[in-house]
Amino acid sequence: MKKEIFKPSREFAKDARIKNMCEYQELMDAATDDYEGFWGGFAKEKIDWIEPFKNVMDESNFPFVKWFEGGKLNVSTQCIDRHLGSRKNKAAILFEGDRGDKQSITYLELYYNVNRFANLLKNDFGVKKGDRVVIYMPMIPEAAYAMLACARIGAIHSIVFGGFSAEALRDRVQDANAKVVITADGAYRKSKPYMLKPVVDEAIKGETPVEKVLVVKRNNEKIEWHEGRDFSYDELIKDQPIECEPEPMDAEDPLFLLYTSGSTGKPKGVQHNQAGYILWAQMTMEWVFDVKENDTYWCTADIGWITGHTYIVYGPLAMGATTVMFEGVPTYPDAGRAWKMVQDYKISQFYTAPTAIRVLHNMGEHEPLKYDLSSLKVLGTVGEPIDPPAWEWYHEEVGGGRCPIVDTYWQTETGGHVISPLPGATPIKPGCATLPLPGIMAEIVDKDGNKKEPGDTGFLCITRPWPSMIRGIWGDEDRFIKSYFGDVKQNGRGVYFTGDGANYDEDGYITITGRTDDVINVSGHRMGTAEVEAALAKEDEVAEVAVVGRPHPIKGESIFAYVVMKHSLEESRFDSYEAIEKEMNEIIKKEIGNIALCDHIVFVPGLPKTRSGKIMRRILRSIAKGEEITQDISTLEDPSIVAKIAALAKEK
Ligand code: WTA
Repeated sequence: MKKEIFKPSREFAKDARIKNMCEYQELMDAATDDYEGFWGGFAKEKIDWIEPFKNVMDESNFPFVKWFEGGKLNVSTQCIDRHLGSRKNKAAILFEGDRGDKQSITYLELYYNVNRFANLLKNDFGVKKGDRVVIYMPMIPEAAYAMLACARIGAIHSIVFGGFSAEALRDRVQDANAKVVITADGAYRKSKPYMLKPVVDEAIKGETPVEKVLVVKRNNEKIEWHEGRDFSYDELIKDQPIECEPEPMDAEDPLFLLYTSGSTGKPKGVQHNQAGYILWAQMTMEWVFDVKENDTYWCTADIGWITGHTYIVYGPLAMGATTVMFEGVPTYPDAGRAWKMVQDYKISQFYTAPTAIRVLHNMGEHEPLKYDLSSLKVLGTVGEPIDPPAWEWYHEEVGGGRCPIVDTYWQTETGGHVISPLPGATPIKPGCATLPLPGIMAEIVDKDGNKKEPGDTGFLCITRPWPSMIRGIWGDEDRFIKSYFGDVKQNGRGVYFTGDGANYDEDGYITITGRTDDVINVSGHRMGTAEVEAALAKEDEVAEVAVVGRPHPIKGESIFAYVVMKHSLEESRFDSYEAIEKEMNEIIKKEIGNIALCDHIVFVPGLPKTRSGKIMRRILRSIAKGEEITQDISTLEDPSIVAKIAALAKEK
C-alpha cells in the first residue's frame, strides 16, 4: 500500500467546520473530560426539543442505555418543519428516475407530502404510535415520505430492501408483527420495469399480521388487487389535509427497526430510537461531509440499508441539506451516468461504496474526464475497506486529486459514522478509516479489554455508550446482550464489540481488517453464513452445507459453498452437478434474494469437523482462497478430508 499521506488543502480547511487536528483534539478532549457535558451540549444546540431533556445519559441498566430522558421531540419536525423559515423553497430532495425523469421537492413541498402521508396512515389506516409499518419500496421520493410520515405519527418503520425475496420479506414482517406494508407496483431498472407488489402478495399469503397494503403507482404494470386489503396511495392521498400535528415522542421511543445479518440464526431487527439517532445523523453529516448551505449532496445507497436511512434521508434533511435520490444504477445507460449526474446537479459531496467504484473504474479509466466534475468537494466511501487501486482512481480521476476521501467506517448498529477522517482536518492515508470521531470511544483491544499495540490486530470495540448506538434487537433482549456485549470485557463490564478486527499504525490510525465472525461482506452488503446455509439446506439432496467468503476483485467477497450430498449424483434426481448448482441458486433467490447467490458451489465428501462436531470454517476459508493449509488439522475427526476438499475446490 502507498504510504503517502494526503493533507487537507488550506483552501478547504479554511471554511470547514473542523479546521485542523487541534480542533479535532479539543473536541475529543472535551468528550473525554466531560462525556455527558459534551453530548448534552450538542443535544441542546442541535435538536429542536418540544420539551427539554432532564438527564443526558442513564447507563444504570447497561447495556440498555437511555439518552436524553425526559426530552420530547419529533424527528420529522427536526428534518422538515424547523427549516420552513429559512429554507422553505430550497430543494430538500432532488429525484432522478432510472429513465432520466426528474423531480425537485422543496422543503415546503416535503412538509405537505409528509403531512398528507401521515394523515393517510393515521386516519385511513388507523396506524398509531408504536405500530410497526414495513416499507418495501423502490428508490422514489414516496419512500422518504413514508419514513418521515411514520416518524411524524410515532409509528416504527422497518424498511426491507427491495431486492429481498418474498420469504425474506415474510420473515421480517412477521418478526416485527407489522400491520401495514407500504409498497409500489414496482419500478424501473435499466429502463425495464420490475415488480414489487407481487412479492408482497406472496410474502403475506396465509396467516399474517398485515391488515392493509398501501400501493404507490410507479411503473403502471398490471398487478393483482386484493379488495379490502390493498389501497391505492394515489387515490387516498389526494384528499388528505396538508397539516398533521407531529406526535411528541419521548427521546427513547423507537424510531425504526432495520433487519441485518449476524453470525448466527435469522436476521435481527436492529432498533434505533429517536433523539440519539437523529442527533448523531445530523452531527456526522455536518462534520464528515461538511455540507454547506448551497451544496448538493448525493449518496448512492439504497434506502433499504442503513446508509440510505442515515445519509440519504435523516442526516441530510436534519441539517437542511439538498439530498439527491436516484432510482437507477450508476452504470446505465453507460459508464458515465454517475458522472453526468454529478455534472448536471453540480454535486459537492459524493458518497458511494468501494464496489461501485471498482465497477465504474473497470468500465473506463478516463471516463470521468469526459464530464465536468469541478463541483466535487468531498468524496466518501462506505461498507467495506477500499483497496489502493480503487482509492487512487477515485482520488485522481474522479476527485481530480483535489478532494479528500472520507473512508467512513460504521454499521447498522452504530446508526452513523464512528471512525472517519474529517475532510478539513485529518491527514488521510489511503485504505484507512483513520480516527474515531469526536465523542466515540473506539478502541482496538484483546478479549480482556487491553489496548493493542500498533501492528497487532484486535477486536474493534466502542467502550462507552454513545447516543446513536443500537438500543436492542426487536423482541430478543438476550440476543442483544450476547451478540454485542458478550465477547469482550473491560473492567468487568461487557463492551460493545463491532464484530470487526482492526489494527493501529504508528500514528494511532485505525485500519479495519474485516469481520472476525461468520459474516460475509458481498458488495458492501452483510450476509450471514448461517442464513445462506439454512437456505441451501432446504434442497432435499443436501446433507450438509458450509458457506464462507472468498475475496473477489469487484465485490470484495463472493459466496463460496461447500456441499455434502445425501446420495451420489447417480442416485440423486439430478443428471449433473451444474443442474444441482442451478437449483440451489434458485432456492437462494426464493429464500433470500439475488444478493445472496453463490458464485461457487463445490460438492465434497465431508466437511472438516472437530471431534465434537464443530465445522472448522477457518480451514474452509483458506481452501476457498487457494491458500496452503498451515493450521493444525490433527484435532479433526478425519484429517484426510482436508486434502480431498482442497483438490475439489481447486477446480472452482
Ligand atoms: C463493514 C454499513 C471497512 C464492516 C454502513 C462493518 C467497513 C459492516 C467500512 C457493517 C469501512 C463498513 N471500512 N469495512 N469504511 N464500513 N464496513 O451494517 O465489516 O451494512 O461491520 O453497515 O461493513 O455493515 P452494515
